[in-house]
Amino acid sequence: MTAQKLVVRGGVRLKGEVQVSGGKNAALPLLAATLLASGRSQLRNLPQVGDVATMSALLRHLGGDVSGSRVTVVDTSAADGREAPYPLVRAMRASVLVLGPLLARHGEARVPLPGGCVIGPRPIDEHCRGLTALGAEIALEGGVIVAHVPGQRLRGASHRFAVTTVTGTETLMMAAALARGRTTLENAAREPEIEELARVLNKMGARISGAGTATIAIDGVSALHPVEHTVLPDRIEAGTLMLAAAVTRGDVLVRGCETSLVEAVSEKLRDAGVEITDGSDGVRVRARQTLRPTDVTTRPHPGFPTDLAPLFTVVMALAKGQSVLTESVFERRFHHVPELQRMGADIVVDGRTAVVHGTARLSGAPVVATDVRAAAALLLAGLAAEGTTEVSQATALDRGYEGLDKKLRALGADLRRAPAPEMIA
Ligand code: EPZ
Repeated sequence: MTAQKLVVRGGVRLKGEVQVSGGKNAALPLLAATLLASGRSQLRNLPQVGDVATMSALLRHLGGDVSGSRVTVVDTSAADGREAPYPLVRAMRASVLVLGPLLARHGEARVPLPGGCVIGPRPIDEHCRGLTALGAEIALEGGVIVAHVPGQRLRGASHRFAVTTVTGTETLMMAAALARGRTTLENAAREPEIEELARVLNKMGARISGAGTATIAIDGVSALHPVEHTVLPDRIEAGTLMLAAAVTRGDVLVRGCETSLVEAVSEKLRDAGVEITDGSDGVRVRARQTLRPTDVTTRPHPGFPTDLAPLFTVVMALAKGQSVLTESVFERRFHHVPELQRMGADIVVDGRTAVVHGTARLSGAPVVATDVRAAAALLLAGLAAEGTTEVSQATALDRGYEGLDKKLRALGADLRRAPAPEMIA
């Protein structure tokens, strides 16, 4: 894919209505879960984003027959593979989500240890500790997790996560669904995507209760059957669109995402003086007055989502006064800050805390995106800034957002894609 940049002319107040796409972080575990049953499953409302394409490629590599895009049919009848290839795992850390299903279905798996990424080392020690508790034997050989289940079938166990982990919880739910006996997970992640996975696994014949709370019980069954399901909306995209309306002093109706999925960001936007109206057809965001300084600490759900922290920094940068952002989930989530400083933002980072002194205006500048959410943050800054901003490495956006630039243009944003010279990393 040729390098691309986004050229944004700031100052336009976004107005109108926009439809949220299906949830990327819901779709990924659901695609992995199709490995738990032999046959044809159908997933609808899948977002057409890079990460979903990568997971589909992984399922094909494992012998799955994957067709379609927004409506994807996965036939796992011939999915006999047990090894995930390093290039796919390197491209997307969430590829580790096949580890649990491969162990549950085949009793063995080889999955390269995903490297870290820009936001942190991203270990999967909790995934491995949990699978070991279920009876798997796991070794690391040449950077590859080599796992197998003596006696072929995992056995239920009581397990407490030392760290609340979203994909770790998803891995254990999928593995335990076919284990012998009951599994209890303590300190489990409570994200809506966990509840969505439990809904789908139960539709496949699993017996899971407590998803969405910190304690999940899974009574293993001997087999699961294929499933049809429509994936829930992307709450991070919804939050992104709400924040875009806020930083441009706009008036936008974000359709297709129920308000309970965006409560934490709605609350903080209200604190910042933005009018949020919850309706049956979505969330309306009106930012008619100057933004107020607001402190944010990111937390596992139902706290403020770490994925929206880079974007909320832009709200802080435009608010009159001091705001403090504390990142409690990942180690390195401030890569967007030096780029925002190039646009005139007054931000001081100390470890996991960023102190922001809001200024009335940001100035357009050439900036570089490092990851999906940093790219979104810089795009929002460009929408709010005076003049033109060029966001390089903009294809990072396409890993996690379906046509975000098209959606923003439909709301009046003045932005376009342009070819860009390859950035020297
Ligand atoms: C999921 O990542 C999301 N990805 C992330 O979204 C999201 O930022 C993150 O949850 C937090 O909400 C998907 O769902 C595919 P974690 P995940 O395991 O599961 C530590 C995006 O932009 N940890 O909940 O990888 C870890 O280092 C992505 O869409 C361990 O120590 O996150 C982190 O500090 C980015 N050991 C914390 O837990 C482990 O075994 C939370 O990580 C696992 C995690």
